[in-house]
Amino acid sequence: MVKQTNSKATSQTAEEKKSSTHASGSTHSESSGTKPGAKSSTVSSRAPVKRAAAVGSSKATTKKSPTSSSAKKANASHSVDNLYQLLLTELNDLLSAENQIIDHLPALAAMSSNQKLKESLQLHLQETKMQATRLKKIFHLLDEVPEKHWCLGMEGVLKEGAELLSMAKKGPTKDACIIAAAQKVEHYEICGYGTARAHAQQLKLDEVAHLLKETLEEEVEADRILSKIAEGSFFSTGVNKQALELEDYALSHR
Ligand SMILES: [Fe+2]
Repeated sequence: MVKQTNSKATSQTAEEKKSSTHASGSTHSESSGTKPGAKSSTVSSRAPVKRAAAVGSSKATTKKSPTSSSAKKANASHSVDNLYQLLLTELNDLLSAENQIIDHLPALAAMSSNQKLKESLQLHLQETKMQATRLKKIFHLLDEVPEKHWCLGMEGVLKEGAELLSMAKKGPTKDACIIAAAQKVEHYEICGYGTARAHAQQLKLDEVAHLLKETLEEEVEADRILSKIAEGSFFSTGVNKQALELEDYALSHR
């Protein structure tokens, strides 16, 4: 379990200042954004640096997700003064996004008429739970704890998807709507994980970058599978074509 201190995330402790020295012996500059000790190739090989969490107790590591209202209030309660703090903000944002997706995916799967789509969403729900666990592992590697944070972007993407789905009756057209909404979610995540990974690479946090790449690849694969279900293949008719055929059938029977 990661220990916490009572100082704020944006303040640097005397201990941190003392350890702000590169392996080469040169003094680390806080403004560079590189976490002290980040010169080594993996996170686990670095001496851990205690940085405080914004939320007051170790329960934050086990809590599934904060309520949206309290987390939204906490969003702007800390500053981002360097690349490391930006990475932490991104990780908190991604964790909130994953938790919101975990809450929404069961409903999407239940609405699907297409069996392949239903199964792929159910499978991705399990994958998403693993991704949230992977993010917690990253926080642990960094000797940090997740902060109260709410991903406003994912909230918007999910709300827009829910609105779209409320307009369609169950069937191939609704399945096409589900895929459209789910692919927006995937693309948002691909963007978030890609950027966070690039920042981890820049900070020489190799193990963190590797874990973020694993999730990034899963998101890309989930997006590819959704495209395949939508567009079909030589062996199966895609959801898009099924929706069009239904439309043609309805028109011909008017
Ligand atoms: Fe995800």
